Amino acid sequence: MRLDDILFSQGFGSRRECAGLLAARLVRVAGQIETDPSVDLTTEGLQFEVEGQAWAFQATSLVLLHKPAGYECSQKPTAWPSVMLLLPAALRRRGIQPVGRLDQDTTGLLLLTDDGKLIHRLTSPKHHVPKVYEVGCDRPVDAAQVEQMLRGVVLDDDPLPVLAEGCEVTGENSLRLTLIQGKYHQVKRMVAAVGNHCTSLHRSGFGALTLADGPASGHWRFVSDAERAALMAKAPR
Ligand code: URA
Repeated sequence: MRLDDILFSQGFGSRRECAGLLAARLVRVAGQIETDPSVDLTTEGLQFEVEGQAWAFQATSLVLLHKPAGYECSQKPTAWPSVMLLLPAALRRRGIQPVGRLDQDTTGLLLLTDDGKLIHRLTSPKHHVPKVYEVGCDRPVDAAQVEQMLRGVVLDDDPLPVLAEGCEVTGENSLRLTLIQGKYHQVKRMVAAVGNHCTSLHRSGFGALTLADGPASGHWRFVSDAERAALMAKAPR
């Protein structure tokens, strides 16, 4: 694909703006400044730099953000800034959006993509992609609460019980909850339904992805092709 088409496809602005980046010597390919818009490059595995920032070509974009508290996942936030502000303009221009939402005060692993089919694939309970939450509670967690969440609790908007795929005590006042669905405020409402109260919430895992190797809070990175394939792999049941 031509380099100017690559820049355009990756969200670096209008065709004129992309041509401007090249003319201003702000684009590097394989470490070398490239100014020729017509140079033909293989997009698979392509790494390049724009204004000193490293990019990987992605036909559809998938990024992992370590969400800090104090940001809303909504595109039109009401009380807090949007998580979109933590991402570069090129990604925002591509129209990426969160894969499910985390509350303003929830921290942790948030995926964002411009691929609608992927959003459905990763959020639909049918595809069984586990999301892991580290939950702080204001009262001690006991075996009965864990048992109840594993068996299923009824929330106020649906007569059908929702159940945790996994639930383990991680401390006197904390537990790790694994969910397959992503209902509104699901963790907080499940914890409340068993008579406790959630005081902190952090998502540590999404399918095969974790935050064990970063990025740090407030930072993002691309999801690699191998990680994307692992996310799409059928989870063991
Ligand atoms: N469940 C919640 O209650 N809040 C979140 O942010 C995510 C899951």
